[in-house]
Amino acid sequence: MRTVRVGLAGCGAIGRVVALELERRRSPYRVAALFDPRPESAAGLASRLKPRPRICRDLPELVTRCDFVMEAASRKAATEVARAALKARKPVLLMSTGGYLAAKAELDLLARRAAPAAKLYLPSGALAGLDGIRAARQIDPLSEVTLTTTKNPKGLLGAPGLTPAQTRRLKSCKAPFTVYRGDVAGAIDRFPANINVAVTLALAADALKGVRVRIVADPDIHVNQHEIRAKGSFGELSCVTRNLPSLLNPKTSALAVQSALAFFERRIVPVEVGN
Ligand SMILES: NC(=O)c1ccc[n+]([C@@H]2O[C@H](COP(=O)([O-])OP(=O)(O)OC[C@H]3O[C@@H](n4cnc5c(N)ncnc54)[C@H](O)[C@@H]3O)[C@@H](O)[C@H]2O)c1
Repeated sequence: MRTVRVGLAGCGAIGRVVALELERRRSPYRVAALFDPRPESAAGLASRLKPRPRICRDLPELVTRCDFVMEAASRKAATEVARAALKARKPVLLMSTGGYLAAKAELDLLARRAAPAAKLYLPSGALAGLDGIRAARQIDPLSEVTLTTTKNPKGLLGAPGLTPAQTRRLKSCKAPFTVYRGDVAGAIDRFPANINVAVTLALAADALKGVRVRIVADPDIHVNQHEIRAKGSFGELSCVTRNLPSLLNPKTSALAVQSALAFFERRIVPVEVGN
């Protein structure tokens, strides 16, 4: 397979490991260009890759210098990256799936216009079980889908949706407590760096408004735990993912990094497994 030049937006916990691992496994997908507003992050990663990727001055330059765009930056950046990539008819992978939700109608239109040359990809990220969810709603819609995410208070601190009282409680709590209960749009608005999985689940379930989300802070938990429960004419599904945090960012699960790698693997294998 010919080399596919990946343009990476965001050289943090996910971007760094994915770029280094694609090189280590000699994937045809190679980070050939990168952009990060923190110059030290971009330069630090570029210096560890061979051949050395181009450090771009902004997102538009990044898009022109690659065949495939990957975002691992932030919700806001994800919307911009997807817009720029699809306008240029380049395939794009978003880790910050909340950035897709923020401009869904516009990005759906751009993706339709870019097809078949390019597609927008939203990987499973930190969540297992999406294959089952997608299959389970093929004949009838799901009657119930819930996601309960439980994290250590440290992983939730700093979220824009916390009230001052919740922040104080997070700093001193000795027992689990619920910090959010509601729909997916509210969850991602209040916890944009914590709950991309809710967006991905709702999209896989084709139930953006129907998925109920609960976020729990538990001082005794040291994994990022996501529990899906779904019901429908297929039967019932429950799936618990207990993720260790990535070494570089406690808000990000190690599985999310590996989900991006699984995505690139799937692009090149001759036999695909799973739906
Ligand atoms: N889909 C999922 O399940 C899932 C799981 C974990 C993380 N995420 C999301 O993936 C994203 C990356 O996570 P991370 O752990 O690597 O974060 P990180 O904070 O470790 O790294 C993000 C990097 O992006 C850079 N950045 C910020 N704005 C940018 C922009 N406009 N353009 C390019 N780079 C920019 C930052 O300087 C930083 O170096 C986050 O938005 C996070 O919420 C998704």
